[in-house]
Amino acid sequence: MELTRSGLHYVFAIFTLLSVASAQTFLEAISQYPQLANFTELMTNNPGLAGALLTSNATSLTRTTVLVPDNSAFDKLQRLLGVPVGSLSVSQLEPVLSYHILVNELTTDNFTVANGTTEPTFLTGPLYNNRSAGDALGSSGAEGDPKNGQVVFIEAKDEPNAARRFTVRQLPQPDVEVQGGLGHIINLTSVNGAWDGGVFQIVDNFLDLPLNCTDTIRRWKMFGFSSSLSRTGLGAPLDITRNVTCLTPNDDAFKAAGSPNVTASIFDLQQLTLFHIIDQPLYTNFLEDGQEYITFSNQTVRVTIRDGAIFVNDAKIIHSNVMTNNGVMHVLDKFMTPLDQDRNSTTSSSTRTASSTTSSTGGPSALPQPSTSTTSSASAATASASSVAGTPSKLLSQASWSLGFLGLIAGFLL
Ligand SMILES: *[C@@H]1O[C@H](CO)[C@@H](O)[C@H](O)[C@H]1NC(C)=O
Ligand SMILES: *[C@@H]1O[C@H](CO)[C@@H](O)[C@H](O)[C@H]1NC(C)=O
Ligand SMILES: *[C@@H]1O[C@H](CO)[C@@H](O)[C@H](O)[C@H]1NC(C)=O
Ligand SMILES: *[C@@H]1O[C@H](CO)[C@@H](O)[C@H](O)[C@H]1NC(C)=O
Ligand SMILES: *[C@@H]1O[C@H](CO)[C@@H](O)[C@H](O)[C@H]1NC(C)=O
Ligand SMILES: *[C@@H]1O[C@H](CO)[C@@H](O)[C@H](O)[C@H]1NC(C)=O
Ligand SMILES: *[C@@H]1O[C@H](CO)[C@@H](O)[C@H](O)[C@H]1NC(C)=O
Ligand SMILES: *[C@@H]1O[C@H](CO)[C@@H](O)[C@H](O)[C@H]1NC(C)=O
Ligand SMILES: *[C@@H]1O[C@H](CO)[C@@H](O)[C@H](O)[C@H]1NC(C)=O
Ligand SMILES: *[C@@H]1O[C@H](CO)[C@@H](O)[C@H](O)[C@H]1NC(C)=O
Ligand SMILES: *[C@@H]1O[C@H](CO)[C@@H](O)[C@H](O)[C@H]1NC(C)=O
Repeated sequence: MELTRSGLHYVFAIFTLLSVASAQTFLEAISQYPQLANFTELMTNNPGLAGALLTSNATSLTRTTVLVPDNSAFDKLQRLLGVPVGSLSVSQLEPVLSYHILVNELTTDNFTVANGTTEPTFLTGPLYNNRSAGDALGSSGAEGDPKNGQVVFIEAKDEPNAARRFTVRQLPQPDVEVQGGLGHIINLTSVNGAWDGGVFQIVDNFLDLPLNCTDTIRRWKMFGFSSSLSRTGLGAPLDITRNVTCLTPNDDAFKAAGSPNVTASIFDLQQLTLFHIIDQPLYTNFLEDGQEYITFSNQTVRVTIRDGAIFVNDAKIIHSNVMTNNGVMHVLDKFMTPLDQDRNSTTSSSTRTASSTTSSTGGPSALPQPSTSTTSSASAATASASSVAGTPSKLLSQASWSLGFLGLIAGFLL
């Protein structure tokens, strides 16, 4: 793809005309950075797209932050796709680039806040953003509010970098991480580049668009949860439910629990799966020690923050803020133990991990029994779910408290 001089002038002319203040158009600003040559060329070759993205009605309402993928990002994406990024169609590029434009004007100070920040982008539409935003994200709730857009999570790397300060470099080192769909983390170098409509920052990869939960989990190769969703029929209803958090135990957790994806009865597995899904997106920067949430199995779970690590009940979040089109996913290192069981056993962690001991016969087979005694899969996980015992029946068909999700499940299963 050759950069034609006339094309470049044309775009510069457009940007100059469109920007009122005209101190520095976006293209003028980024073209001063040789490591942004590929992006500059992409914008130059797609003036309509560039104009639509940067000077749309929505973006004109606010001062934005553009995350500009550098040349290495183009190389990486080209290797992945097998074709040059420039050969993608406008309709393919549009959502990707929209996800790289943040609604707020953000500079280094905003990235270094404790616990990171969840920031809305201009990526909208149910395919990639089947969720809604509330106060916490600055949205008024009105339909056209730009802050309703799909979010990214941004956080400064926590490694102390005393030495870095003294390194002589042309640019600051990438010291901030950005996460979007599929949980890939990309690096951001905060150059705080100024242009008429806000700022731009440099990223070393393209963000992945958020996909639905089942697809996200499948691509992560988390076979335990993935197979649980398909075996229980919960995958499809989960995917089309707005505003969810999936607390996804990883494959090691499934193995440690005796592979409930295979061994548990469908009913037990449904309960166990629903116990790990919450009906609102919980981005980690909003979590506080002691907060409690109700899961789709109608059980309470509690957030604990200890030494900088976040636990939900007794399970630790080992990868957080993986955006899905309908919310967010956090990966857990084990199945959560229900709180009522937790409260009883002070020395619980040892007994809980020793799943096999509680196995087979004697254990509390507390789940609402679907008529015949489903050979209680003796795993810790199902045993945990079983401890729901004392609480009222959690039968799916009775669970009218959350019409949205459970209604959908009923629709799919019955
Ligand atoms: C942009 O705003 C103008 C004036 O409010 C309106 O007429 C136009 O339809 C809007 N364009 C889009 C694409 O929303
Ligand atoms: C980046 O730009 C250079 C110079 O125009 C070009 O040779 C290279 O192929 C581009 N890389 C990608 C991945 O588009
Ligand atoms: C970004 O940081 C500045 C300076 O601390 C602050 O005034 C502004 O409100 C922050 N913006 C957002 C969107 O958090
Ligand atoms: C947020 O940061 C504060 C201060 O560093 C810390 O006490 C708190 O535990 C953090 N919360 C989370 C969810 O990490
Ligand atoms: C989605 O969640 C947000 C806050 O988490 C809330 O304000 C909004 O009403 C929810 N939307 C739906 C459709 O449940
Ligand atoms: C981000 O930077 C780290 C080194 O700090 C590197 O290992 C990693 O590959 C980078 N990520 C991407 C997406 O390039
Ligand atoms: C059950 O989960 C494990 C992960 O612990 C996975 O390796 C296995 O393939 C899953 N079984 C099925 C039938 O999908
Ligand atoms: C989830 O997304 C995949 C494509 O990423 C699609 O094939 C599948 O139909 C979607 N599932 C639902 C229930 O919409
Ligand atoms: C978005 O959510 C609504 C409400 O749950 C659902 O009907 C619709 O199918 C979902 N769309 C996508 C693309 O997932
Ligand atoms: C918890 O303790 C109470 C009272 O000591 C007891 O009745 C209940 O069965 C215990 N529950 C479990 C799950 O051990
Ligand atoms: C959910 O749990 C609460 C408290 O345990 C209970 O009052 C309520 O009836 C339960 N709802 C359903 C549908 O089981």
